[in-house]
Amino acid sequence: MKKRILSGIRPTGDLHIGHYLGVISNWVELQEEFDCYYMIADLHAITSSYDKEKFQDKILETLAVYMACGLDPEKVTLFKQSDISEHTDLAWLFNCITPMGELSRMTQFKEKSETQAENVNAGLWDYPVLMAADILIYNADLVPVGEDQLQHVEFSRTLARKFNNQFAKVFNEPKALLTKEPRVKSLLYPNKKMSKTDAAGNYIAILDPPEIIEKKIGSAVTDTGPSGTKTPGVENLFRLLEAFSPKEIYNNMDNQYEIGDLKYSELKKVLSDSITKKLVPIQQKYQELISNPENLYQILESGNSQARKVASENLKNAKKAMGLI
Ligand code: TRP
Repeated sequence: MKKRILSGIRPTGDLHIGHYLGVISNWVELQEEFDCYYMIADLHAITSSYDKEKFQDKILETLAVYMACGLDPEKVTLFKQSDISEHTDLAWLFNCITPMGELSRMTQFKEKSETQAENVNAGLWDYPVLMAADILIYNADLVPVGEDQLQHVEFSRTLARKFNNQFAKVFNEPKALLTKEPRVKSLLYPNKKMSKTDAAGNYIAILDPPEIIEKKIGSAVTDTGPSGTKTPGVENLFRLLEAFSPKEIYNNMDNQYEIGDLKYSELKKVLSDSITKKLVPIQQKYQELISNPENLYQILESGNSQARKVASENLKNAKKAMGLI
């Protein structure tokens, strides 16, 4: 039996090269070896403000980007969280064994309570419980996520153990699979990670056209010139170069830096060309996919029905264990 994987991304903002390098290309590799469930986490997305008029397009765009980056619906189950109402059913059962204080202490909740102080809704607070339901309802073994979601996976693990002890052994205890380096930083504030909720100049979207890529890399923060220690902005450009270009190009630029000869304009030119080269085929594939929404809806439908099969079985087990059936 293959081990099972579950993960998801919220369909808000633009998917960017940080998602591509850190999460999606990892998912693509894992699809060869594991039984993978990848979802569009729309129910988590609505815990922050969003545009309802554009939301359907955003959901479809997310699916098309997943596939354009290499996820193959013949190999993995691609589905939409809100279509599987078993997740929210299970989240309610979990709510009833989760102490309120534990949720109030979660790092992401505390951070978001500040960044979206005008909208600290109950869904935001309950976010980890729904995420635990997402994971546990498939009895996932592994959850590939970025570091910022580690605490939530740990919460799911603890919750599974608690449920199993209190009622009956229904759930697997999942492990986080930390996505690999590099941790891509914002182009304008290189001390922060690249984030889709920041202004567009901070990130390169997977769907940015070449001229925009050039412009954004051109405006990326550097310093006054090679000085022996790379400042965070320069370090970030080098990490991107390492990820997007052949080793020789990277080594060449790095040597030039070391001998104090590197012009950042040259580095930026080479970097934006490398990123463009990688993204253009993905964008072409994306255009093909997005021009046929019927096909995308069909893929979701078949992914949904596969997901529902597993989810409804496990929800039933949980309800039985709790004495509801
Ligand atoms: N919270 C995750 C994020 O912001 C998205 C997500 C929702 C998720 N449910 C999940 C990730 C379950 C992994 C497993 O990126």
